[in-house]
Amino acid sequence: MAKFTDEKLLSLSFGAAFSDGVSLSDLEALHGRFKDGDGWLRKNAAEGVEGFGWINLPSAKVEEIRALSRWLATRESIVQIGIGGSALGNLMLNNAMLPPYWNELSEKERNAPRFFMSDNVDPVDNRAVWNLLNPDSAAFIVVSKSGSTAETMANFLFFWEKLRDKLGESAARERVIVITDKDKGILRPFVDEIGCKSLVLPEDVGGRFSVLTCVGLLSGWALGIDCDSLLKGAGAMDKLIASTGQVLSNPAWVSSGLSYLHSKKSRNMSVLMPYVDALERFCEWYAQLWGESLGKDGRGTTPIRALGAIDQHSQVQLYTEGPDDKLFTILTVENNVTDIAIPAAPQKSLEKLSYLYGTSMNDLRNSEALSTAAALVKAKRPVMMLKIPKLDAYRLGALTQFYEYVTGMVGWLLEIDPFNQPGVEQGKNYTYGLMGRAGFEDQADEVNKLSALISNNVTEA
Ligand code: PA5
Repeated sequence: MAKFTDEKLLSLSFGAAFSDGVSLSDLEALHGRFKDGDGWLRKNAAEGVEGFGWINLPSAKVEEIRALSRWLATRESIVQIGIGGSALGNLMLNNAMLPPYWNELSEKERNAPRFFMSDNVDPVDNRAVWNLLNPDSAAFIVVSKSGSTAETMANFLFFWEKLRDKLGESAARERVIVITDKDKGILRPFVDEIGCKSLVLPEDVGGRFSVLTCVGLLSGWALGIDCDSLLKGAGAMDKLIASTGQVLSNPAWVSSGLSYLHSKKSRNMSVLMPYVDALERFCEWYAQLWGESLGKDGRGTTPIRALGAIDQHSQVQLYTEGPDDKLFTILTVENNVTDIAIPAAPQKSLEKLSYLYGTSMNDLRNSEALSTAAALVKAKRPVMMLKIPKLDAYRLGALTQFYEYVTGMVGWLLEIDPFNQPGVEQGKNYTYGLMGRAGFEDQADEVNKLSALISNNVTEA
C-alpha cells in the first residue's frame, strides 16, 4: 500500500505520486542508493565534516543556550539581526508555535518578549523597528555564521549606533548577543573587543540547516516555545528514518526518491502547500533549504511555496491545467486545537449558505485540501499527502528533521553537494566589491563588466 503511517509523527500517502514516467518499481529500485546515501550522511556527520552536523543536533548539548535564554526571556523585546539561514528558521518557529499577531498581544497575554526580525536591508523597516522599542529593555541578537554578510552587518551597525547613542557603550554592550562561528569572520573579534554575550554556531552546520542550533533555540526558549520537545521530535524522526531500511516504509526515502525521479522527468518544480496559516513560514524556510541546497550544476528542482486555501484561488488553475512540470506535497494537520463552528444566520437572503451552518471551519479547510488533491489527481499531476497528527513542537521538530534529511538525500541522488552555496557566495562577493570592501576589487571589476553587458543588451533590445 502506498501509504506510510507513524501515529505519533506523520503519515505520507503517495499512491497518487506516480505519473508519466515514474512508477512504484522505479522508486523501489533506488533502495541501494538510499542505503548508500544514508551511510554517506551519517558517516560524514559522525566525522564532523562541514555541512553534515545537522543530523546530530537533536542530541547536541544545549545547556549554555538554555541558560542565556533565561536572561533573554526577561527582556521586553528581542530584535534578531540576520538573513537567510540566520533568520528564516526563527520566523518559521515563531509562526508555527506562537499565537498570531504576537507583538500585538498584551504583555500579560504574551508573558514573553516581543520579537522583531531585521533581515532585509530596508531603511524603512529598520527605523520602524527602532521606533517601536524601548532600547533599555530590549536585546539584540546578531546572527551570522560567516560573520561578514553585508546585509546583517549594515543592519547591525544601524542598531549598534542607535543603542550606543541612547545608552552609552557599556550599557549597549550588555544588550547584545552575538551568534557566529568560533573564529571565522568579523563578529568574533568584535565579541572579544567589547566583551558582549555570545554563542558559537557549530562549525559543521550550515546556515539553512541551523534552526535547531542556538540560532533557533535561543529566542525559541525565550519566547516560551517548547524547544525540548522540538529537539525530541527531531530525534524521533531521525530514529525512524535510520531504523527503516525498506523504501516504502521510510517516508524520507519515499519523498526524496519521488522528488529525484520526477526531476529526471522534467518535473522540475516542487510545490509545498500546507493548509494551515501557522505553516506559511515553514514553506519559506523549506524554500531556502531546498533551493540553496539543491540548485547546482544545472540540476535541482525549484521550490514553490503555496498556502491552502488561498492558493486555490490563485495558483491551482496553473497547477491543474498548466505545464506538467511539478510534484506536489499537500501538508495538513489532523487535529487542530482551535476550531470555529460556522454560525447560522437568520436572514432569508443567506439561506443558500445553510450547507455551512454548524460545520467546522477545520473540516472545511481539510475538505479544501482534499479537493485540491483530487483536482490535481484528475489532471494526472503527481501528489503526495503529508499529514501531521497535530501542530506542536514535537511534530514541528520532526518535520524539520524530515525535510533536512530529504534535502540531503536528494542532493546525494542528484550527485551534487547539498551543503555548499557557491551561488550565494558569488552574490556576497560582488556586493563586497561594489561596496568597496578591501580585497574584493576584482569582484567589483567583474560585476562592472557584467553590468555593462546587461546595459548593452538592453540598448540593443
Ligand atoms: O544557508 C546559508 O548558508 C545562507 O543562506 C546563509 O544563512 C545566509 O547567506 C546568511 O549567512 P551568514 O549567516 O553567514 O550571515
